[in-house]
Amino acid sequence: MLVMATAPGKVILLGEHFVVHGGRAISMAIKKYVRVKILESRDYPLEIYYAESGAKANLDSSGNWVTELEPRILEPIRATVTSILDFLGERANLRLEISYGYPTSAGLGSSASLAAALVDGISCFLGHELNKEEVVELASASERIVHGNPSGIDLSTVVAGGVVLFDGSHRTILERISGLDLPLVVGDTLERRSTALLVEGVGVVKTRYPTILEKLREVNDLAVRSAYTSILKKDLETLGDLFNISHGLLRSLGVSTSKLDEMVHAALEEGALGAKLTGAGGGGCMIALVSRGRTRKVIAAIERVGGRGFLSGPDQMGVRSFKQA
Ligand code: PMV
Repeated sequence: MLVMATAPGKVILLGEHFVVHGGRAISMAIKKYVRVKILESRDYPLEIYYAESGAKANLDSSGNWVTELEPRILEPIRATVTSILDFLGERANLRLEISYGYPTSAGLGSSASLAAALVDGISCFLGHELNKEEVVELASASERIVHGNPSGIDLSTVVAGGVVLFDGSHRTILERISGLDLPLVVGDTLERRSTALLVEGVGVVKTRYPTILEKLREVNDLAVRSAYTSILKKDLETLGDLFNISHGLLRSLGVSTSKLDEMVHAALEEGALGAKLTGAGGGGCMIALVSRGRTRKVIAAIERVGGRGFLSGPDQMGVRSFKQA
């Protein structure tokens, strides 16, 4: 028997960084997936195999990794596996085959997706069914190792699916919309970065300019509220304007880069209704809201300035796992 666990990636539509400091944000699970095949390991307490690169890591019986991979990549996986086995009161030797269907370290939530797929998939493999809150709680052990002080928006989104209104002060989902069609162009700068370092940088801005950061957070929350209403009303023109405002706020925090700005401008010049960086910034990805008919032109414009573009819509289901014979 084996289990296939699948978790979507995510984009943040508005409110990244501010959400770490108690602000609000809107995010959307996207139709790009991390997949984990879970089987019993015959030889090791834990075996990890990366399907794309063929890279492997085995944990020996004294708890040491036998691998050329960096512990930085493997430790969050070990933490997640330990927290799930302890929670379920189970012991198991597992082989995890991981496949990324989208770029990692790019602001698309790959670490949260992997953690969610591991928790959901391993519990399914061991015959337990966890509710979504339990999956978020257990997977956050891994997110804390990767990100230090995550707001929890990434995990909550990839577990729930759909479009999510998230409250950073209580670290919880306020509202969720499913069944909505909101196609976005995602542009990858192909520059990789660390969310933890970018969050730390905004922390320094907050220490130096606490009142200014507080006012910017208030503006962010106003923009988030209007954006949520415009999503419900399918008012894409207003949502596009709010993307542009959000990008300006994020630039003022110092998390944009010249390449992100260039890609945002290229998308707007080709007729996008709005465009902004998404996620932690410092490279990673941007998103553009584009009316039907202009998608290909906007993707081409992003690629002319050195990015890679693709169209993606909302995943509605969030993380899920299936047993296979
Ligand atoms: O996972 P990323 O790199 O897309 O960033 C997550 C969004 C932040 O607001 C920057 C961090 C957080 O924990 O909310």
